[in-house]
Amino acid sequence: MSALAVRGLCVEFASARGIVRAVQNVSFDLAPGERLGLVGESGSGKTTTALSLLSLIRPPGRIASGEILLDGVDIARATPSALRRMRAARIALVPQGAMNALNPVLTCGAQFADLFAAHGAPGGTARIAKLLASVGLGVEVATLYPHQLSGGMKQRVCIALAIALRPAVIVADEPTSALDVIVQKQILKTLLAVQRDIGAAVVLVGHDMGLMAQFAHRIGVMYAGRLVELAFVRDIFATPRHPYTRMLIDSLPGFGARGVFKGIPGLPPSLLTALPGCSFAPRCPRAGPRCTVEMPQTRILEGGGEVRCHDA
Ligand SMILES: Nc1ncnc2c1ncn2[C@@H]1O[C@H](COP(=O)(O)OP(=O)(O)OP(=O)(O)O)[C@@H](O)[C@H]1O
Ligand SMILES: [Mg+2]
Repeated sequence: MSALAVRGLCVEFASARGIVRAVQNVSFDLAPGERLGLVGESGSGKTTTALSLLSLIRPPGRIASGEILLDGVDIARATPSALRRMRAARIALVPQGAMNALNPVLTCGAQFADLFAAHGAPGGTARIAKLLASVGLGVEVATLYPHQLSGGMKQRVCIALAIALRPAVIVADEPTSALDVIVQKQILKTLLAVQRDIGAAVVLVGHDMGLMAQFAHRIGVMYAGRLVELAFVRDIFATPRHPYTRMLIDSLPGFGARGVFKGIPGLPPSLLTALPGCSFAPRCPRAGPRCTVEMPQTRILEGGGEVRCHDA
C-alpha cells in the first residue's frame, strides 16, 4: 500500500511561444514514511511536479494527464472542496521560497490558529507551543511577525505549519536553498525528526545530490521534465545508470572528480518542441544513433531501481 501514487503525470504551460511541456509522463510510488529526494537542474520540472502533487498548478499551467492517488482519491481530478480538506491535513507543502510564504500581517501563532480553524481541528496555545518546540523554536515565536524572524526560523515555522495536522505526505520544495550550509543541515535534521515523529512520507526537492544523500531513502533524477532515474541512495551513488545521473555525481565536490567542479557541458533542451529521441542525447557522451530517434522507455532494474536510457 503506497502513501502516494503518481501515474503518468504530464503538466503543460500555455505560453506565447507554444505549449511548454514542463513535466512529461512522471510516475512513482511513495511508501508510507518513505523519504524521496527529487533532484535535477533548474527548469527540470521539480517544482511543477511538487505543486502538482497538491493540485496547485495555476493557469496558464494545467495537469494535462495522469493520476495522483492519495487515500483512493485522484488529486488531479478532485473537487475544490475535497482539495481544501486534503491539503495540509493529508498532504502538506513547504513551498519553494518558504521564506516569503508566511503571511506578513499575521503573527506566527495566528497562522497556526487559522490553519486549525480552517480544518476544524483542535488548536490552542499549548498545541502551537508543542509544534514550535518540535522544530526547535521557543513559544515566544508565536507572538512574533514573520519579519521579526531569521530565514532559518521562518523555514522552521513553515515546517511546523506543514506538520501541524499530521499529514501522510509532506512535499518540501528546496526548503534549505536560501540558507547557509550549517543552517541547511539543521533544517534537514529538523525535517527528519518531525517526519519520523508523525510517520509521514516526504518528497524533498533539491539540487544538491550530496545533501539529498543524507536525507532520502531513494533519489529521483529529473531531466527536461522527465524522471530519468529512480533508485535507492546507495545504489544510485555506487552504480548510477543514467549518464546524466553519473555526471551529476561526478560534479559533486569530493566525488569522482576529487573536488574539481566540472559542471555538465551544454544546455537542457527547449520544452516547447518534442524531440523524437532522448532529451539528454544532445549532451550525452554515450549517445548512439538510436538515442536521437527513439525515446527510451522506463525500465525496471534488478534491485528495484528504474532508468530511462537505451544504454543503461
Ligand atoms: N507559470 C509558468 N508559466 C510558463 N512556464 C512555466 C511556469 N512555471 C514553470 N514553467 C516552466 O516549466 C519548466 C519547469 O519549471 P520548474 O519550476 O518546475 O523547474 P524546477 O526544476 O523547479 O527549477 P528550479 O531548480 O529553478 O526551481 C521550466 O521550463 C519553466 O519555464
Ligand atoms: Mg523549483
